[in-house]
Amino acid sequence: MRIGVLTGGGDCPGLNAVIRAVVRKGIDGYGHAIVGFHDGWRGPLESSYEELTIESTRGILPRGGTILGSSRTNPFARDDGTARIGETMESLGLAGLIAIGGEDTLGAAARLHGEGVPVIGVPKTIDNDLGGTDQTFGFDTAMSIATEAVDRLHSTAESHHRNLVVEVMGRHAGWIALHSGIAGGADVILIPERPFDIDEVCRLIRRRHARGRYFAIIVVAEGATPVEGTMEILSGATDEFGHARLGGIGQRLEREIEERTGFETRTTVLGHTQRGGTPTPFDRVLATRLGVKAIDAAHEGRWGQMASLRSMRIELVPLAEAVASLRTVGEEDLEVARAFFG
Ligand code: F6P
Repeated sequence: MRIGVLTGGGDCPGLNAVIRAVVRKGIDGYGHAIVGFHDGWRGPLESSYEELTIESTRGILPRGGTILGSSRTNPFARDDGTARIGETMESLGLAGLIAIGGEDTLGAAARLHGEGVPVIGVPKTIDNDLGGTDQTFGFDTAMSIATEAVDRLHSTAESHHRNLVVEVMGRHAGWIALHSGIAGGADVILIPERPFDIDEVCRLIRRRHARGRYFAIIVVAEGATPVEGTMEILSGATDEFGHARLGGIGQRLEREIEERTGFETRTTVLGHTQRGGTPTPFDRVLATRLGVKAIDAAHEGRWGQMASLRSMRIELVPLAEAVASLRTVGEEDLEVARAFFG
């Protein structure tokens, strides 16, 4: 059997571990051939690929990024997307595809499967917001990087008696902000799921000062927004899936907090450092387990499924179910963090 594999969307530590698992078990375990497509859906659309071998995937387990490249190409942004992917697969003699991606890449995979393309999904995103799985690989690494940053910022904030706003990734879900904020002992955590009240943020900071703590750490997810009409926000360009380029909420908060409280406030934007570099052992193991499950599923012809983590076990769930809704931070999760605010 010949099987294609691609990595789409924002990159994430652990992608190479999945590719390696698919190749190793696919070739050694089943005697299949694995074709790696370049740059997400652009690969099968433009027939850009390479044959993957045990040798070409050696040493990639601890490497960040993806050896195949990634892009936010949307196959449905063009009329002939499904047909072109079908033609490429036919010309290469592929039985099916393994798509490693987040909501957009797997959303496209689910739709392609509905149009007759055999696909299996593997969930990835540092944002940890995919449905159908308890956790995505990449999240543990991103959260560890963000926690280390919060720890480091704590000591300098304290020395200079100033507030530090830390802007982390998280478009629709505040998992990175919540977990790094709890792990790092943040004084305020702002997430996309709950529009924030700037008056309340300033009240918490003032209360902290009144208690003799002359600094505060505010962790904000890039997708966090103020309650409508209470603070001006910026908007940016959009990608092929219609998502705006985020970033800027940290700086807006810096200005607003400083003006309203009179306390010096600075911002650090962690940005893509959260997505780069070597995956944590947890992410390496999770990505490897998901990769093995995906190639097992392809071998058995169980197309239209996604490998997923459920109560510590790796299982298959229907792709359509997994992309139906995002996994966001709930009130209960936030309640734990709130106990330590201010
Ligand atoms: O992959 C999701 C994500 O990490 C979001 O949190 C963020 O908005 C986006 O990627 C930014 O990605 P890029 O800068 O590559 O478009």
